[in-house]
Amino acid sequence: MSDIANRDQLDAALQEQDIVGFWKLKHDYESFEPENPEKPGLWRYSDYAPLGFASTEVIPIEEADRRNLMFSNPGLPGSGTITRRLFGGVQVIPPGELSSVHRHVGAAARVMLEGSGAYTTVEGDKCALERGDVVTNPSGAWHETGNEGNESIMWFDTLDLPFTRSMATNFFYNDYREVVDGAPTILKHQTVKPRLDWSATAYGVGGVRPAWISHRISGGNGSPQFLYKYEPTRELLDRLRDEEGSPHDGIVVEYYSPETGGSVLRTLGVHMQMLRAGEQTLEQRSTAARIYVCLEGSGATTVGGVTLNWGRNDVFLVPGWTWARHENGARDSVLYSVTDAPALRVLGYLVEDRRDRAGDVSRTVVPVV
Ligand SMILES: [Fe+2]
Repeated sequence: MSDIANRDQLDAALQEQDIVGFWKLKHDYESFEPENPEKPGLWRYSDYAPLGFASTEVIPIEEADRRNLMFSNPGLPGSGTITRRLFGGVQVIPPGELSSVHRHVGAAARVMLEGSGAYTTVEGDKCALERGDVVTNPSGAWHETGNEGNESIMWFDTLDLPFTRSMATNFFYNDYREVVDGAPTILKHQTVKPRLDWSATAYGVGGVRPAWISHRISGGNGSPQFLYKYEPTRELLDRLRDEEGSPHDGIVVEYYSPETGGSVLRTLGVHMQMLRAGEQTLEQRSTAARIYVCLEGSGATTVGGVTLNWGRNDVFLVPGWTWARHENGARDSVLYSVTDAPALRVLGYLVEDRRDRAGDVSRTVVPVV
């Protein structure tokens, strides 16, 4: 028999044993719908860009390794994460600065914003990046970056690193090896393939792929096409512009893996969408979050009752389980976006609500692939 006579004594005794009574946390684990502390966010280019360029002046590269501005969710101030599962932010690289080759478990998708001469090399495939180009960096793939141009460049990165970190599964390697003179040797830079933009060359025509090469990259953690040029995607959006499109996303296309037909990364999905002049979309929400970067045009997105007015290079966030709808401006807009829906889908956690024109909501529990 214990000598506990009241709840305070019980709580104190449990605490001493590193135990908590369920009744104290019941609300956290029995909520009927997802409760998300993340808030909608908007980061304006005119605000963040000067700070990004300033970071290259005042923060030595030796200290930073990379000069990333980590956009922090307003509901998670100071966290450095745009949601609890996603990192999102811009990186500025001054002329002549090259990173050394490394790899990590976290996967990344990158879209080029400003400047020329930048590249990302993934598994020996050197991808030259121009505005609007997308490059993926699958989990475990060796990669490095640099700026061979004459001006500073800026791109926007999305990574699933907070996700891998929360699961304590992130590894980071910088011991890249190649055989040199018959012996495995650690190198600072990987030998690049003779042909620039190899993967975009091999896979850049939708629907067909080279038949003599394996489409599985080492580790098998993502699409064998790393580079997706902007121009053909933009042309496709234009070709589709007279279609009805999605009532919730307008003319929207998904970047896919020519190996699997699925998302380009196991955890992240990448889309490009065109909202036509004056187009208004219907409301939707998903357990997955979506980070948007405006590449062209301007408009407004109402997220959880907050209206975010965006323009060129502005970044905005629709957190998980938050209603959102777009209202485009007077000319066509193009939005790049990254979502963690594929990560939730493989776990069976991807749920989507869509409102129709009559205001009724239909719910989809997206089947596990
Ligand atoms: Fe990296």
